[in-house]
Amino acid sequence: MANKITTGLLLLTLLASNEALKILISFPMITKSHGILGHAVADRLLEAGHQVTHITTFPREKPTPNLTDFSVAHVTLKLLEEMNQDDIMTMKNMIGQGNFGDSFMFPFFAFLMHKKILEDPATLKLINEEKFDVVILEYFFSELLTGIPALMGVPLIWFCSTEPHWQALRLIDSIPNPAYNVDVFATYGAPLDFWQRVDQMWRTVTKFTKINFGLVPMEWWTYNSVYPEIAAKKGVTLPSYSEAAYNGSFMFINSHPSLGGAIPLPQNAFNIAGYHVADKPKPLPKDLQTIMDEAKDGVIYFSLGSFMSSDGMTDEMKASFINMLSKFKETIIWKFDSEMEAPANIHFVKWAPQQSVLAHPNLKLFITHGGQLSLIEAMHYGVPLVGIPLFADQYINMAAVERKGAGIKVSLAEDMAIDMEVAIRKVLTDDSYRIRAKELSEIYHDRPMKPGKAISHWVEYVVKTRGAPHLRSPALSVNTFQRLHLDVLALFALVIVVVCKFVKFVRKSLTSTPKKSKTQ
Ligand SMILES: *[C@@H]1O[C@H](CO)[C@@H](O)[C@H](O)[C@H]1NC(C)=O
Repeated sequence: MANKITTGLLLLTLLASNEALKILISFPMITKSHGILGHAVADRLLEAGHQVTHITTFPREKPTPNLTDFSVAHVTLKLLEEMNQDDIMTMKNMIGQGNFGDSFMFPFFAFLMHKKILEDPATLKLINEEKFDVVILEYFFSELLTGIPALMGVPLIWFCSTEPHWQALRLIDSIPNPAYNVDVFATYGAPLDFWQRVDQMWRTVTKFTKINFGLVPMEWWTYNSVYPEIAAKKGVTLPSYSEAAYNGSFMFINSHPSLGGAIPLPQNAFNIAGYHVADKPKPLPKDLQTIMDEAKDGVIYFSLGSFMSSDGMTDEMKASFINMLSKFKETIIWKFDSEMEAPANIHFVKWAPQQSVLAHPNLKLFITHGGQLSLIEAMHYGVPLVGIPLFADQYINMAAVERKGAGIKVSLAEDMAIDMEVAIRKVLTDDSYRIRAKELSEIYHDRPMKPGKAISHWVEYVVKTRGAPHLRSPALSVNTFQRLHLDVLALFALVIVVVCKFVKFVRKSLTSTPKKSKTQ
């Protein structure tokens, strides 16, 4: 009896020390995959008993206890409409265009999106009236919202939705070495040859300059036109823009060495890829279940993600793809938005529960755009891939898949069906791809803590330790000059010059003495 009471008391104190936190999370990006990431972070925190306010473009239809979806769709979708005038984000218009992430438009879009969200009256009201224990921001190429945790004097946690890359890592550590750490929008992956290293160095230096002299002033200006008024109302002192931007306590990284590279991370960053994947896949819709169950030669699943639609192909591309896929004995499930005539082995679906399709034992191959979520889900179920990277991090993702031997990358082109056929046949017939995908899947699953659990663990840890200052990288306390040892090199150069001068002087005086005696 006494024992029971002590255990009960112990449990109570444990519960009390793990109080429910009020957490603000922000995943405002207009593409569905970022919405999925945000909802899954909210879910993992709700499961741990916390209260969540979620800044999102995709509010849930049904109310969820302890969750407030704070929709910014009226801001973000309007901006998308304004900026996507010429349908630049369609497959046919992307051919030969390089990576959209590298265009001038992209960082400007990211800045404008955050600026418009911040300046929206509803957001201002939220910041003015609410108080949170911790703020989680998806890093989407803007530091503007870091003023929110700074105003509230609470820890900031970053969320990096891709492979860890220098633009994100620079906020909590130094810029990683571009000799082996590629830019997130590169169109190739490591290991790098000489010209690729030249390209990486060039990209890093020019982007760094553009960020510091182009974006940062705009962000600084917006920061100082919005936050000081709120700070005055609240009666708090506002940290400067850069103090707020570089004050992140922690960073979640939506990756894992089984997927990308083994990129060195500071102590306050943690890989949580897979936290959005359901423990048990949802049952398939009846028609899909029947199709997959009855596919005696296996199934190929073809989906280019939620943002990019197969409809964006030219008519010739569509026809050549259908013709090419109809030659396979496998059943094809193709995520396609419009109605089309289909050969017997091809099934067009407008939507499919991707995780459940990937989990089906008859699935043989996934044709993907190489989006991070698709790769994670494929890795979760050990499915080999053929990938057509279209934009953003999809190129480096597919480069990693190819390097690891779990799939083949095919370049986007009008006549790409020919290369696709070769790649698909190779992955289907050469067993090594399937075996490698299974091996990587085992590596992916073998972790001391499930990624979903790690999210609530680290959030609670950061709050408990008041921002986990002991985990911060010392790299943040030195400036770029010091980090690159430019001052030290200058000193060495000076010493060498002085020594040389001295040696010269001594030699001159030694050799000139006898000369003098000769002339005498
Ligand atoms: C930086 O973060 C810590 C931990 O959350 C917080 O206590 C501190 O006030 C923040 N400093 C600035 C300048 O925002």
